[in-house]
Amino acid sequence: MSEAIFSVSGLKAGYGGGRLIVDGIDLEVAAGEVVTMIGQNGAGKSTVLKGIYNMTPERAGDVRLQGASVFRLPAHELLRQGLAYIPQQHTIFPKLTIAENLTMGGYLIDDNGLLAERVAAVEAMFPVLAERRAQYAASLSGGEQRMLEIARTLVMDPKVIMLDEPSIGLAPRIVDQVFAVVRRLAESGKAILMVEQNVKKALNASDRACVLELGRIRLQDRAQVLIGDERVARLYMGMSGAA
Ligand SMILES: Nc1ncnc2c1ncn2[C@@H]1O[C@H](COP(=O)(O)OP(=O)(O)OP(=O)(O)O)[C@@H](O)[C@H]1O
Ligand SMILES: [Mg+2]
Repeated sequence: MSEAIFSVSGLKAGYGGGRLIVDGIDLEVAAGEVVTMIGQNGAGKSTVLKGIYNMTPERAGDVRLQGASVFRLPAHELLRQGLAYIPQQHTIFPKLTIAENLTMGGYLIDDNGLLAERVAAVEAMFPVLAERRAQYAASLSGGEQRMLEIARTLVMDPKVIMLDEPSIGLAPRIVDQVFAVVRRLAESGKAILMVEQNVKKALNASDRACVLELGRIRLQDRAQVLIGDERVARLYMGMSGAA
């Protein structure tokens, strides 16, 4: 594996009162790789991503992008440096058009010509969005809105994308489409760190995965190995034995 473009070491994070939700985790993602974190509700998966993105009141450890520490940078600076984050809750602007939402994704780009170029490039990747660019984002289906969130992130051309439960609430066919987009992004060279509850499909779309329990990584391996691990199957795929 090539050297990790993105690495997290000794990450601790919490919301105050000295209670750590994330209690020292290490992970790495290489360019072209999808790494997925699974775990039960409340395990701290979203807090890992928020901690990485400097969005928790308490945090310690280190985060490196292409070898350089970015741990102390604020979220917008992380985005500028090539680390994008798509949170669990929906973040589209329903009363703006699809094109306006995409343009918002490039709010850190000062050069209007470059911004227009980037938006056009992203629209070319997502024909469904391009066809409806003048419509309100509210008119999109849930799956299309998730695609818009991903597309909007790509306007900054990030190197690393963190996605929190991209498949939540979507119909199975749409889930497949979202994971196909995630795979395509990895194949284009992005490093992807994803949190998911749709374990089997997510693992099938991933290279490596880890299991988070009570703020610590309990298991980590190649995704195909974890699919066959009876502990993972029992706990997260609703099966009583090995997959
Ligand atoms: N803003 C907050 N303030 C205080 N505690 C919080 C906050 N957000 C989350 N927590 C707590 O942190 C713990 C981990 O929450 P987190 O959202 O990271 O879990 P998760 O693994 O993402 O769960 P889910 O699968 O339900 O999304 C929970 O006990 C939760 O109540
Ligand atoms: Mg969560």
